[in-house]
This record gives sequence, C-alpha cells and structure tokens, in this order.
Amino acid sequence: MSDGGGAGGAGGAGGPVSLRDLQPLVEGTLDAGPLGYFAGGAGDERTLVDNEAAFARRRLMPRVLVDVSDVSTATTVLGTPISMPVIVAPLALQRMAHPDGEPGTARAAAAAGTLMTVSTLATATAREIAAAAPDAPRWFQLYVLKDRGVTHALVDEAVDCGYRALVLTVDAPRAGRRERDVRTGFAVPPGIEMPGVTAAAGHSGGLTPAGFFSLLDESLTWKDLEALVEAVDLPVIVKGVHAAADARLALQHGAAAVIVSNHGGRQLDGVPAGIDMLEDVVQEVGGEAEVLVDGGVRRGTDVLKALALGARAVLVGRPLLWGLAWDGEAGARWVLDTLRAELELDLMLLGAPSPAHVSRHHVR
Ligand SMILES: Cc1cc2nc3c(=O)[nH]c(=O)nc-3n(C[C@H](O)[C@H](O)[C@H](O)COP(=O)(O)O)c2cc1C
Repeated sequence: MSDGGGAGGAGGAGGPVSLRDLQPLVEGTLDAGPLGYFAGGAGDERTLVDNEAAFARRRLMPRVLVDVSDVSTATTVLGTPISMPVIVAPLALQRMAHPDGEPGTARAAAAAGTLMTVSTLATATAREIAAAAPDAPRWFQLYVLKDRGVTHALVDEAVDCGYRALVLTVDAPRAGRRERDVRTGFAVPPGIEMPGVTAAAGHSGGLTPAGFFSLLDESLTWKDLEALVEAVDLPVIVKGVHAAADARLALQHGAAAVIVSNHGGRQLDGVPAGIDMLEDVVQEVGGEAEVLVDGGVRRGTDVLKALALGARAVLVGRPLLWGLAWDGEAGARWVLDTLRAELELDLMLLGAPSPAHVSRHHVR
C-alpha cells in the first residue's frame, strides 16, 4: 500500500488514525446484510459490548526508569516467530468485505510479519490462501461438519498446504441468534462461495448463517478432540474456551493450546468478556500451555492488558474486516501495522522492552 494508506490516506485529513475509525468509514459502503453480519452479536449484544468495555475497565501500571531504548514487539506462538503478539482471527466470508478476500488478508498478515488463522467458512480454498503468501505461517480453523468425509478433506488440505496448527472452534454447535441478520434477512450474496461448505452442501450461495451452521456436528465432545489430536500430525488449539475447567479438559484431551474466546459476542449472549475470563484460565493451565485470548482488541494498550493477564498473544477480528472493506489487502495491512506501531509505543511507555517483560504487576 502507499505510505498514506487506503482511500482516505492514513493519518491524512479524513483518513483513519486508529482502528476505531474504520467501521464508520465503511458503514456507508457495505450493504446492510454483510454489514450486520460482520458487526453484529447475539441477542441483546451484551457480550459484544462488554468485550470492549472490559478492556476499558482495566488500568495499566507502568514502571519507570527502565531502559526502553531498544523495544521489540516480537514474540512466538507455539514456537513460531511473529512480529507482535497479535494474530489474525478466523473470519468467515471475507470476499463479502472486498474482492481481495482471504488471499488479501494472507498477504497483509505476511507483510506485517504475523500469522493468519483461515476459517472453514473462507471464500477461497485453504490452498489458494496458502499460495497467496507461501512463506508465511498459517493456522487452519476447523469446524467439524456432520459430513466427516468433507471434514477430513479439509484437514488433509490444510496439512498438505503447510498450515502449522488446527484451531478447533468449540463454541458454535449452532450459530448464535444474531438478530441483525434476522432483521436484514441476511444470506450469502450471489457470487460469494465458501468452498468448505460447498463440498458439504452442494452450494453455499444464498445460505443463511443458520443454514451453514446446520452443517456442523452438534454432537461433538472431548472424545472427538482426542480423536482429532491422534489423527493429525499438527498441534490442535481449542478456540472458544470460557471456563478454566474446560481449559484443563482441553489439555487432558491433547490440545496444545487454548484460545479464550466468546466468538466476538456472536454465540451465547451474556457470557463474560474474553479478557475477564482470561486470568482464571491462565491460573489453571498457563504453566503448561500457551493461552491466547480474543474479543474487543482494538488498541496496543488492549494487547498489553491481555499480556499482563497471562496471554501469549491476542487475536483480532472485526477491525480486519473493516480494513478489508476500506481498502482491500492494503487496508488489512494498515490495521496490523497500526496495532504494531501502537504496541511498540505502549511497551515503551509501560516500561517493558518486549512482550516477555509484561507481567501481572502492569495491570489492575
Ligand atoms: C464476521 C465474523 C466472522 C467470524 N467467523 C468465524 C469463523 O469462521 N470461525 C471462528 O472460529 N470464529 C469466527 N469469528 C470469531 C472470531 O474468530 C473472533 O473470535 C472474534 O471476531 C474476536 O472478536 P473481535 O471481532 O471483537 O476482535 C467470526 C467473527 C466475525 C465478526
């Protein structure tokens, strides 16, 4: 992208300055259905709102007179080096935001030096997305479909294309009741295909979220996690853990890591914010496995709060969709670069020269 950024010119008059500026910028350009699908949460959207509010409730406590002349945002997740403790969350239907879609996001993540999680509900195949940025690390997010043949084919493709981990999403036996979708009558627009779903349903155009989630296996249990871990020669990360006891069970059944997540407030409304569930999970399993968190991360300071409460890294969701909708691949890149720049400054001001220096004392 140009230095000035996308359509409006980052930092220039009228252009976005922070991630929060993006949604208002694109609200007028997206159709009501896709906009509601991207933005919305379940029920009264209490959890959706709380994801951001919970970060606002926390306070940072800097330490002073620490040498911060050489600050690095770099870290690792499951041994993979990344430029910052921020990775791309699995997000369905990215070509609905912009024709660049998932391949564009993959290139943006690669350019920003971080890792992308590719959704089962992507609008390109796992192979196409891998080919867009062949050298960058990627994880594949798996929904286990009732059709186990298709599920195995999705896993095989991910393994074959060099994905480094499977992210098994466990909080969505069905889609939450997202009333914005009900109000707009949202269905996947003509011309947008989800190859993973097409293989199971014969088509994907015109499906509603309830329709494509009805392909998922509602009978999934810990035994299925264990079977997946045994069948696949990749680490399996469990996404959608809320309770510390479930984090423990995940490890007992072979998970390599857990992602504390309420699916961006899109599943069971009324559950706590991701950041508010994090510490219990870290206390339970943090000594044995990496714990990641998502939901409402919009600022470098949010990343600091998550690190201080024990997260190895955070996932960022909706801002990437707004970035894509604004300026395609360049917009997604702008989101990641902006977060990284904020985080670098925030680490300095916190008195922590790297993510590894951020500790529980830095947040209250
Ligand atoms: C439009 C949209 C689509 C999503 N699709 C998926 C998906 O296919 N698989 C999945 O595990 N999570 C999915 N999520 C949840 C995200 O991975 C992530 O948990 C959430 O967006 C984080 O919250 P944030 O948007 O506030 O950053 C989706 C979220 C949104 C907003």
